Amino acid sequence: MLGPVLLTASRSARTRAAVEGFAPTRKVVDRFVAGETTAEGVATSRELAAAGLAITVDHLGEDVTDLAGAQAVRDAYLELITGLAPLALEAEGGRSGAAEVSVKLSALGQALPLDGHDIALRHARDITEAAAVAGVWVNVDMEDHTTIDSTLAITHELRETHPWVATVLQANLHRTEDDVEAMAKAGARVRLVKGAYKEPATVAFQDKADVDAAYRRHVATLMASDATPMVATHDPAMIELAVATAVAARREPSSWELQMLYGIRTDLQREHAAAGRTVRVYIPYGTDWYGYFMRRLAERPANVAFFLKALATS
Ligand code: FDA
Repeated sequence: MLGPVLLTASRSARTRAAVEGFAPTRKVVDRFVAGETTAEGVATSRELAAAGLAITVDHLGEDVTDLAGAQAVRDAYLELITGLAPLALEAEGGRSGAAEVSVKLSALGQALPLDGHDIALRHARDITEAAAVAGVWVNVDMEDHTTIDSTLAITHELRETHPWVATVLQANLHRTEDDVEAMAKAGARVRLVKGAYKEPATVAFQDKADVDAAYRRHVATLMASDATPMVATHDPAMIELAVATAVAARREPSSWELQMLYGIRTDLQREHAAAGRTVRVYIPYGTDWYGYFMRRLAERPANVAFFLKALATS
C-alpha cells in the first residue's frame, strides 16, 4: 500500500517542499546519493572503480520545464564527463565503458512543448559526442510509459553513430515483450529493470509475480541473443537466474553485466565483482534528489523504516 502512495508523493510539489525542508532527511539521502557536486560524484566513482566495480553516474534531475534548465543539465554532464575521463583511461586494460553516464531525457528537455523531443535529442547527442572522445559510455534511462516511444527513438538515433549507447527496458510494462525482441535483434546494450514508476493497469502488470515472471522471460531472451544484457536488480533470485543463464549460454564476463544502485546491497556488488563478473554501480549525485529518493523509499518498506529511525534519532 505504501509504495503507490510514495510514488504519487514523488510527483507532488507540496510533499517535495516538506521533505526537502526537513533537515534530518539529509542523513538518509546520503545513503543513496553520492553528494551534491560533480567532484563528489567523481570521487565516489573513483572509490568504486578502485574496488573493481564499473560505474554509471547520474547527475540527478528530471522533469525540466524550460530550455535554460535543460541546457544547464547538458552542461553538467559535459563537466561530469571531463571529470570521468581520466578514470575511463586508467581502467584495467583500457577496458572501454568502465565509466558510463546515465541520462534522463526529461532533464534534457524532452517534455518541453512543441519541440521537446528534438531538444532532448540535441542535448543527448552533445553528451554522447563528448563521452565518445573521453572513452565514457552513455545510458539513456527510462522514465514513465508516456515517454518510451520518444526515448527509444532517440536511443536508436544515437546508436547509429555510437552503438554502445544503451537504454533501459521495464519488465512491468506489457509492451516490453516486443521491445526486448527488437533490442535483442539489434544486438544492443540493454539495462533490464522491473520498473520504478506507478503505471496504470492498461499498460503495466500490477502483481509483483507477473512482473517477476516477465523479468525472467526477458533475461532468457536477452542472454540468448547478441545483445549485451545488463541485469539491473537487487533481487537475489533474478541475479542467480542471470548468472546461471549466462553460464548456460557460455557468455564471456565482458558480454553481460549485473547492475545495482549506490548504497544498496553493497555486499552483493562486491561478491559478484570478486567472482569475476562485471558489476556496474549506478551513482546518483546532485541537489535535485527528491524524485530519485522517493522512488527508493517506495520500493522497499525497510527503506522507509530506515528513514523513520534516522529521523527519530536525529
Ligand atoms: P524488488 O524491488 O522487486 O525486490 C526484490 C528483492 O530484492 C527484495 O525482496 C530484496 O531481497 C532485494 N532488494 C530490493 N531492494 C532492496 C534494497 N533497497 N535493499 C536490500 N535488498 C533489496 N527503473 C526505471 O524505471 N528506469 C530506470 O532507468 C532504472 N534504472 C535502474 C538502474 C539500476 C542500476 C537499478 C538497479 C535499478 C534501476 N531502476 C530503474 C529501478 C528498478 O526499476 C526497480 O525499481 C528497483 O531496482 C527495485 O527492484 P529490484 O529488482 O531491485 O527488486
